[in-house]
Amino acid sequence: MDLDRTYLQTSAWKSNIFKGKVVFVTGGAGTICKVQTQALVLLGADAAIIGRNEAKTIKAAEELAKLRDGAKVVGIGNVDVRDVQSIANAVETTVEKLGRIDFVIAGAAGNFLSDFNHLSSNAFKSVVSIDLLGSFNTIKACFPQLRKNKGKVIFVSATLHYYGVPFQAHVGAAKAGVDALSNALAVELGPLGITCNCIAPGAIGGTEGMSRLTPPGQRPTETRVPLQRLGSTRDIADATVYLFSPAADYVTGTIQVVDGGLWHIGNMMGDLYPDVIISQGEDEHSKL
Ligand code: HXC
Repeated sequence: MDLDRTYLQTSAWKSNIFKGKVVFVTGGAGTICKVQTQALVLLGADAAIIGRNEAKTIKAAEELAKLRDGAKVVGIGNVDVRDVQSIANAVETTVEKLGRIDFVIAGAAGNFLSDFNHLSSNAFKSVVSIDLLGSFNTIKACFPQLRKNKGKVIFVSATLHYYGVPFQAHVGAAKAGVDALSNALAVELGPLGITCNCIAPGAIGGTEGMSRLTPPGQRPTETRVPLQRLGSTRDIADATVYLFSPAADYVTGTIQVVDGGLWHIGNMMGDLYPDVIISQGEDEHSKL
């Protein structure tokens, strides 16, 4: 659900709280990170969004810039977070065009469902490289700006690694690493005035993650969620606004779970032992 100007009337936040601030968002054209950026732009920030797909990234930046009169939003495509130099170039462009970076959202992620038997070593490496190494590279490239401006960082994590989730060994391992990275950086960078926190979304309706990850017929229904509804991208945006706002100046090294209480219920993926798991090892499509 994209945000429009009515967000300013219906949200809990004061308009213009982010006036003069600049946010740098990897994966900023994606379903969740775009709405996080929309809220920040509506509340006064300028933004740079970064992505692999150039056309999609530039189109999203153009839409974002229309949200607020005078908003400046730069879209930078052809950036792969696995390549630290390509992010460093995007940081340079951002500073040239917008003057500074105050906030960073490490949101770029890759995912697909695969059981272990069909998950190749290269596939595992691809997801860990995008989600975990990509998060490291993003903060590495933004570090001079974060240090200069006593910046704030949000990593987009998950709840998959709180317990064993089948078909998600690669993502669970990567996101556990993201949480560990955030905690360590909160401690190391705290003395510089930099905060680092994670947001862990649960089942968020209408997102690419939901459509990629939940097989038809096994979608978590509202009734499985303690708060009796799927999350919205706006729920994630509101957590983002909180963590970047002065209300969270003393909050670092935390993981803000935004899932309506779902992870407490346990495995989200429905049937734990479908045939593909029961029959593993007897399959000519097993991958190394
Ligand atoms: C098994 C797969 C696969 C699949 C790709 N691979 N898709 N294996 N099942 N469905 C394997 C390939 O066969 C290959 O291994 C290896 O992964 C790398 O694939 P490439 O396509 O060459 O790599 P790359 O272009 O880097 O692609 C990255 C990707 C891809 C992650 C694999 O899915 C991607 O680009 N996704 C981007 C968008 C995305 O995933 N968005 C989702 C965000 S939602 P072999 O062995 O053949 O070489 C999200 C939510 C997470 O992340 C939290 C959930 C709660």
